[in-house]
Amino acid sequence: MKNILIIGASSGIGLELAKTLSDNHQVYAYSRQRGELPVHANIRWEALDVEGEITFPGLPDQVHGLVYCPGTINLKPVRGLKAEDVRRDFEVNALGVLRVLQAVFKPLKSAPSASVVLFSTVAVQQGMPYHASVAMAKGAVEGLGRSLAAELAPTVRVNVIAPSLTDTPLASRLLSTGERREASASRHPLKRLGEARDMASLAGFLLSDEASWITGQVIGVDGGLSSIKT
Ligand SMILES: NC(=O)c1ccc[n+]([C@@H]2O[C@H](COP(=O)([O-])OP(=O)(O)OC[C@H]3O[C@@H](n4cnc5c(N)ncnc54)[C@H](OP(=O)(O)O)[C@@H]3O)[C@@H](O)[C@H]2O)c1
Repeated sequence: MKNILIIGASSGIGLELAKTLSDNHQVYAYSRQRGELPVHANIRWEALDVEGEITFPGLPDQVHGLVYCPGTINLKPVRGLKAEDVRRDFEVNALGVLRVLQAVFKPLKSAPSASVVLFSTVAVQQGMPYHASVAMAKGAVEGLGRSLAAELAPTVRVNVIAPSLTDTPLASRLLSTGERREASASRHPLKRLGEARDMASLAGFLLSDEASWITGQVIGVDGGLSSIKT
């Protein structure tokens, strides 16, 4: 049984992952609200805001996995983009990763092997209008992920998942009508939206020993959007 920290386990991808992992692992779950996170013997939840003070009291000596899920979708034309919005996007998506990692560095390095999973977006690989702020912040996550993978090898692996539009509360405004959902689905070569379980299953794999030779990768889970045209 591994000890796995999920930051942002109360909704969307992190929630799906917490539910799956808790069958076989001890999950340490954090978010501002508990949300829909079930009460389960293998799930310990504590309130945490990654924009505030970050501490993890009571963690075990060894942590085998860290997944960082907090993110923003703040789509605006560049003309109207405020510096404070860009700073906040950077803080939640990118700086939070670094601050969390520093706070769990010791137990993560103490495990014989450990895996860190971060989230980017398809909008880093493929330019999209109105995505400047999130692309800047998630571009930083991809750079940070590769840099950490180099610095923490060989004991800690670090990989980044880059989703396209996924049906979670974060994307609810973009998917608020049947027409929007259909239009978004049809933009993807695989003709559907992403589901939380599409991302959670890859995250679960990257956390597992099956992925023990994979590090420093940015992996698109995007219905083919970043790389193929049909
Ligand atoms: N959904 C998409 O279409 C999509 C597309 C591309 C990339 N992604 C990326 O995938 C990752 C997961 O997204 P998701 O769709 O699962 O999002 P979500 O449904 O909004 O879940 C985000 C989780 O992070 C937590 N969180 C947010 N702000 C936080 C803060 N300041 N401190 C602590 N916890 C915080 C939320 O809980 P609380 O609100 O209770 O704190 C929640 O548990 C994100 O990094 C996102 O950028 C998603």
